[in-house]
Amino acid sequence: MTSILILNGPNLNLLGTRQPDVYGKETLSDIEKLCKNKALKISIDVDFRQSNHEGILIDWIHASKDAFDGLIINAGAYTHTSIAIMDAIASVEIPTIELHLSDIKKRETFRHVSYIEFVAFDAIMGHGAAGYPMAIDRMVDHLNA
Ligand code: DQA
Repeated sequence: MTSILILNGPNLNLLGTRQPDVYGKETLSDIEKLCKNKALKISIDVDFRQSNHEGILIDWIHASKDAFDGLIINAGAYTHTSIAIMDAIASVEIPTIELHLSDIKKRETFRHVSYIEFVAFDAIMGHGAAGYPMAIDRMVDHLNA
């Protein structure tokens, strides 16, 4: 069975109350439910995690090798700073989609830079919580192509 790891980075545990005008009203647990329902519908496995710590995200990426078929990552602010997360993804060579709730290319210029985009085959942004099931579909299409 296809198995996808969905990683969420710093501050995403605060979704629902964190700048809802930017990130939406759904909590991270609402989004997890969206992903689990989607996975059930299309008969795949999804493992959904969040950490505020760069090193933990990196450890999870390392452990994803041979354990998951694909990685969907909303790295939060680490998107714009973390060469280490980029290197971790490059090291395990797992098919990766970069995901954001907001459209980082239409926000402050410091958010236009993404290190994840160098190692991801696609990026989904600006669709709020709906972007998560969209990313799952995109990953499955990619894995089945
Ligand atoms: C984000 C965008 C990032 O710039 C920000 O730091 C986040 C969330 C998004 O999902 O829109 O924490 O990744």
